Amino acid sequence: MGIACAPLGQTAPMDAGVAAIEVRDLTMRFKGARVDALARLSISVPQGVIYGILGPNGAGKTTLLSILCGLITPQAGSVCVGGRDRLHDPAEVKRLLGVAPQEPAIYPTLTARENLAFYGRMQGLAGARLESRIQACLELAEIADLADTRVEHFSGGFKRRLNLVIALIHEPRILILDEPTVAIDPHSRSLIHQRLRDLHAAGVTILISTHYMDEAEQLCHQVAIMSHGRLVIQGGVQDLLAAQRDDTIQIRLDRDAPDGLGEALGRLPEVGDLHLSGRCLTATAPRADRAILALLQVLRDAEVGVESMGYGGSSLERFFLTLTDEEAAR
Ligand SMILES: Nc1ncnc2c1ncn2[C@@H]1O[C@H](COP(=O)(O)OP(=O)(O)OP(=O)(O)O)[C@@H](O)[C@H]1O
Ligand SMILES: [Mg+2]
Repeated sequence: MGIACAPLGQTAPMDAGVAAIEVRDLTMRFKGARVDALARLSISVPQGVIYGILGPNGAGKTTLLSILCGLITPQAGSVCVGGRDRLHDPAEVKRLLGVAPQEPAIYPTLTARENLAFYGRMQGLAGARLESRIQACLELAEIADLADTRVEHFSGGFKRRLNLVIALIHEPRILILDEPTVAIDPHSRSLIHQRLRDLHAAGVTILISTHYMDEAEQLCHQVAIMSHGRLVIQGGVQDLLAAQRDDTIQIRLDRDAPDGLGEALGRLPEVGDLHLSGRCLTATAPRADRAILALLQVLRDAEVGVESMGYGGSSLERFFLTLTDEEAAR
């Protein structure tokens, strides 16, 4: 690891202040389908962030990414990439974007080097510049040893790594990844995560769809949660987590609460609502760390032991399940 990303030199910078990606009221219904795959979807991705698109199977993630890449055309709505309209300025949009699709678009009978050369030429690279980009991409993916091996002999993880660097061959300013780490081993997954962090540090905006909530929580600064082609919520990961943080402290005592314990605990200024029944104690507190210390002190004074203790906390996974369940119930 530790290979620095090449500086961004090939595509013109985006104007400061414009969103990297702005989609408005996108509506897409596939031929013969009874429902919209996307229904008036609007999403704004600022420059310089890692932005996660989350949603259950069939939510419309790939449909959205395919429209951004120009593979399919929606019935309604607008798409701007780096301030350029997708329909009116497709050549500039193509230069700005690098795309790693859900199903790796790799030619199995070509070698890794030949695949990179093919996609590099498609992006207008040639000569020494193409050669140096191919070499840089092979090293970035840590597949230089396999450069001249036909891709049909690659493992799933190595195909994913190649899929990623094919998207980077022309040093795009915006990278779109559709489930880049699905079904691969932990080493390849960790390598891809590290490369994405390096690219972010080098100024690349990254839009990534994923089913892995831990991946989104670790990697993404902002996320949009989709369901049935619609936006359920979008925002900063930390803001979303803070908004649904569960402040409940649960303590199981080693014996039934003695008389007077509830009153003593209830007098603690650090604790909000408190409920004590038999061996079970639950309490809410704005500052759980302080409340837990105070609760434990009172229990110790009353010579009551603690069998187990838990704190609600929050996770993107729980948030996602709550929101998409609510959406499904509508
Ligand atoms: N080419 C197509 N023709 C007809 N229907 C399609 C086509 N592609 C997608 N759909 C439908 O559009 C909806 C959205 O599918 P999409 O592939 O965008 O979902 P997704 O969120 O990417 O799901 P997954 O997590 O399984 O990849 C689904 O109902 C799907 O069946
Ligand atoms: Mg998909």
